[in-house]
Amino acid sequence: MRKPFIAANWKMHKTVEDAVKFVEEVQHRLPSEDVLTCGIAAHFLALYPMVQKTKGINLGVIAQNSYGEFSGPYTGEVSPRALAAAGVQYVMCGHIERRTLFHEDNTMVAKKVAAVLQCGMTPIICTDETMVQQEFNGEVHYVFAQLMDVLSEVSFDQVKNIIISYEPSWAVGVGQHANPTLAEEGCRLIRRSIADTYSYEVADKIRILYGGSVNPENIQLIMSKRDIDGVLIGRASLDADNFLTMVDRV
Ligand code: G3P
Repeated sequence: MRKPFIAANWKMHKTVEDAVKFVEEVQHRLPSEDVLTCGIAAHFLALYPMVQKTKGINLGVIAQNSYGEFSGPYTGEVSPRALAAAGVQYVMCGHIERRTLFHEDNTMVAKKVAAVLQCGMTPIICTDETMVQQEFNGEVHYVFAQLMDVLSEVSFDQVKNIIISYEPSWAVGVGQHANPTLAEEGCRLIRRSIADTYSYEVADKIRILYGGSVNPENIQLIMSKRDIDGVLIGRASLDADNFLTMVDRV
């Protein structure tokens, strides 16, 4: 049984004060960690105050990015080592907005994933729908080329410690309702790619999330799909009551 993972991605929204206030609003109303995992991806400034504020509650702190080296002359970047030392548990790697607005490519994302794992945190590897078809022994295999490139530095031993998120560009931040059938198909193909590359046992254990226009109205249907183990929620997660409603509906 894969435990559901429900995470908010606040992107560049909220001040540090807003972030702390949100935690205060939800802290006594979250379900037990035995039932599902909750998390918040906040911008760098808010991470440390949130780590302090979320001690002992079911709200993991997620960084939205980090650099692929442990330290060095990289002005404006934040190292995975500093994030781990601050108590951050998860790091998003290769979100579609990083790829399109800041030109992150697969090589860069692969380095980030490897560095995050080495620092003992869990990468949430974001991938979109750049799927390719491969003909092999007369059969067509669908492979998430982007995902496989990004996993190039992840060993068999490490792969069980990752989370993957499928965020198709047609559904992110566009205000359209997510199509649960297409969402599940993407997650299912990702799981099959992991099974082909690593093993069925590993693929069966890895949590695969869906992200893109999730809201209180569609979360139940999305989460009812077998291959979707959780969601990354953007706009609809900014309001504390909305976030709790979605957590309750899982
Ligand atoms: O990481 C989640 C995000 O990209 C989806 O954003 O606003 O479409 O829920 P939104």
